[in-house]
Amino acid sequence: MKKILITGGAGFIGSCVVRRFVNNHPDYLIVNLDALTYAGNLQNLKDVENAPNYQFEKADIRNRDEVNAIFDKYGITDVIHLAAESHVDRSITNPLDFVLTNVIGTVTLLEAAKEKWKGHYADHLFYHVSTDEVYGALGAEGLFTEETRYDPHSPYSASKASSDHFVRAYHDTYGIKTVISNCSNNYGPYHFPEKLIPLMINNIINNKPLPVYGDGNYTRDWLYVKDHAIAIDLVFHEGKTGDTYNIGGFNEWKNIDLVQLLCKQMDEKLGREPGTSNQLITYVKDRPGHDRRYAIDAGKINRELGWAPSVTFEQGLSETIDWFLANEAWLNDVTSGNYATYYDTQYASI
Ligand code: NAD
Ligand code: DAU
Repeated sequence: MKKILITGGAGFIGSCVVRRFVNNHPDYLIVNLDALTYAGNLQNLKDVENAPNYQFEKADIRNRDEVNAIFDKYGITDVIHLAAESHVDRSITNPLDFVLTNVIGTVTLLEAAKEKWKGHYADHLFYHVSTDEVYGALGAEGLFTEETRYDPHSPYSASKASSDHFVRAYHDTYGIKTVISNCSNNYGPYHFPEKLIPLMINNIINNKPLPVYGDGNYTRDWLYVKDHAIAIDLVFHEGKTGDTYNIGGFNEWKNIDLVQLLCKQMDEKLGREPGTSNQLITYVKDRPGHDRRYAIDAGKINRELGWAPSVTFEQGLSETIDWFLANEAWLNDVTSGNYATYYDTQYASI
């Protein structure tokens, strides 16, 4: 029986992955290890918390004793590692937190796997979930492939790049079976409202300014979170050991166009006059080191594993807005407390 440790399972993508594995693989035990930082929320998993094949452990991936104890307690056979500090703006103000969690935390998990699986490396998999930001920024043309040279610019992407290198080093040096996927920007239910799409949805609901960084012509490639979880399931089961898979939506949007689309869809859903929310758009100071464009070539995972996004952007965005409108209590909960202080500091000028 597989006993899979999913780290960061109370976060945005992690909760979607936990839900998928608990529901689609009843013969596996899913152990969710999460420190419940500001970004981790057990409300995200209410629907599976009593499932017989699910366990939650509040623990910190930087703490070797806690991680080792969880490996021993459950006889962990595989790891899907998502726990991380994930917000670029926070990494600019607090880079050390990103080194400690994303680099030291990842190496602490790798050490546990190295020690606990010793003599049986062929029977176990360490799957590391990473980001397209490790590749740096694109100009107007081109796509990131698995061969693109690493060129991270923010403390966040530098820490993720470093963790990717450590995962490959443990594969090459110790023979641990590893796989890495690098995904583009996700969106969907339970997305923390410090990130572009949920922040704009929340501010439109509350008639607050919509802060667009710089000239607004920065481009991201958006993927519905459930399609990322499907891809992770496939890579976990069928990915080639030691390989990397890029995951993306073939769905590029300039930030300003995306914000205008959100304004239009939300005016319709909220019964507001067309053009109402557009008036909230406010250009603000740019993000330092802001990467101009990300876009993923997801050809390899499509050719080798048969994956392609299942949800169109129109469908996914509409479902996402509906989810946020139906879950205002969740939004209010996560935007109170510490987040309110972060917001006031980050957006002090508007
Ligand atoms: P998130 O910030 O929503 O969730 C991170 C989770 O990790 C939280 O539940 C948090 O409590 C937990 N965590 C943080 N530090 C921890 C620690 N020291 N010990 C244990 N748990 C800890 O992040 P997300 O957006 O869901 O991203 C998940 C992963 O996917 C990250 O590794 C991120 O780099 C990667 N990724 C994210 C995106 C995206 O668009 N959000 C895209 C590609 C890759
Ligand atoms: O590409 C994958 C990455 O996508 C993940 O690895 C990260 O964890 C995730 O946070 C995300 O990083 P981005 O920096 O691309 O996402 P964010 O939502 O912070 O910003 C998206 C774009 O919108 C970016 O160009 C900055 C811009 N932006 C963001 C915010 C929060 C604004 O213009 N205004 C804002 O208030």
